Amino acid sequence: MKWDWFDQPGLAKHEGKYRKREGTALMAKITYVEHNGTEHVVEVASGLTVMEGARDNNIPGIEADCGGACACSTCHVYVAQDWVEKIPAKDDMEEDMLDFAFQPDPARSRLTCQIKVTDDMDGLVVHMPEKQI
Ligand code: FES
Repeated sequence: MKWDWFDQPGLAKHEGKYRKREGTALMAKITYVEHNGTEHVVEVASGLTVMEGARDNNIPGIEADCGGACACSTCHVYVAQDWVEKIPAKDDMEEDMLDFAFQPDPARSRLTCQIKVTDDMDGLVVHMPEKQI
């Protein structure tokens, strides 16, 4: 039996079909916490953005008016403190757009459309602001 490893993390091709590589996750469990404390725990596929995970699961509080183009800041969240250093840093465009978000926190604020989910984000927690602008 020969395994043909596919270049995407967590996927392996075997007999023409892609399968989950043992011991890896193709999904990350993400907890979205509304401003009122309501938690939504959903599985988001690697490769989607944290914003798309919210949109696809009808989670309120992330509006994403520009559809993920980093042009509206209505997908703003506060990343849980223990995750701030674990996710890729924001670039200059995201940093600039966060200036237009509601009550941004320089350390924890992120635009969810700019965070691409990977399987090592399993357990990520994000908190919604009181409102989106
Ligand atoms: S969806 Fe508009 S900035 Fe993220």
